[in-house]
Amino acid sequence: MNAPLLDARDVTVRFGGLIAVDAVSLAIPEREIRGLIGPNGAGKTTFFNAISGLVPHGGAALRFDGRDMLHLPAHRRAAAGMRRTFQSVQLVPQFTVLENVLVGMHTGIADNPAASVLGLPGGNRGELGAQRAVIEVLEFLGIGETLLQRVNQLTFAQQRYVEIARAIVGRPKLLMLDEPAAGLSPGDVKMLDALLRRLRDEWGMTILLVEHVLSLVLEISDRVTVLDNGRMIAEGSPAEVADDPAVKTAYLGNENV
Ligand SMILES: Nc1ncnc2c1ncn2[C@@H]1O[C@H](COP(=O)(O)OP(=O)(O)OP(=O)(O)O)[C@@H](O)[C@H]1O
Ligand SMILES: [Mg+2]
Repeated sequence: MNAPLLDARDVTVRFGGLIAVDAVSLAIPEREIRGLIGPNGAGKTTFFNAISGLVPHGGAALRFDGRDMLHLPAHRRAAAGMRRTFQSVQLVPQFTVLENVLVGMHTGIADNPAASVLGLPGGNRGELGAQRAVIEVLEFLGIGETLLQRVNQLTFAQQRYVEIARAIVGRPKLLMLDEPAAGLSPGDVKMLDALLRRLRDEWGMTILLVEHVLSLVLEISDRVTVLDNGRMIAEGSPAEVADDPAVKTAYLGNENV
């Protein structure tokens, strides 16, 4: 069997006395869509932050695309081909879609969008190629017409797509999405479902999807990993996980079930 694209072992994140992520191991083969679910506060976003290098973590190993990532800073991990979106939209509202997505071409600065937009080089030839890449990705997402609009003029769903555009414009191998369906209408969730499948099928991406909209996760994921209180409590096919007594118990009393 081929080595997994992402192989994280024993990832642990502590905030003072709280163990937000407790020895979580996750191995994702190429071209898999992996769901990562769990009740509020389970540690999903913190796990993302650990993998992408935004919070320090203990970990026995973190390999990505055959390389050891454990001691690399966030921008080097992004440059290696792992990109993510944020649970709350993190765009610069008064900047255009083009400007916001261009940030994603500059992997060294992509993890601090607000600060980095200000430092963008303008008008040189490299930038022209970057602009073409932005246009291409917006058209792929069906929001080509927003290119020169300011982000604060867009609908919420369009803003979510701009975030995804910024994450995929550099053609990462691994796309990590933190609740991309939050706040979307059922129709928009359907479009998102189709889009994620196309990213996998046509662009060959591997996707790690954190999401409370369980209908989407269970429908689209090849496998699902479940966290609760920082620990992994289940992993398997969507059907196996949905039927798991520990998972049902974890979600009891949770409005998202
Ligand atoms: N910067 C931080 N400092 C202290 N505690 C934190 C910090 N970030 C997260 N936590 C705590 O770590 C735990 C896990 O939080 P996390 O945001 O990763 O959960 P989550 O699974 O993403 O939840 P949600 O579904 O609500 O987004 C929670 O108890 C949270 O309060
Ligand atoms: Mg979260």
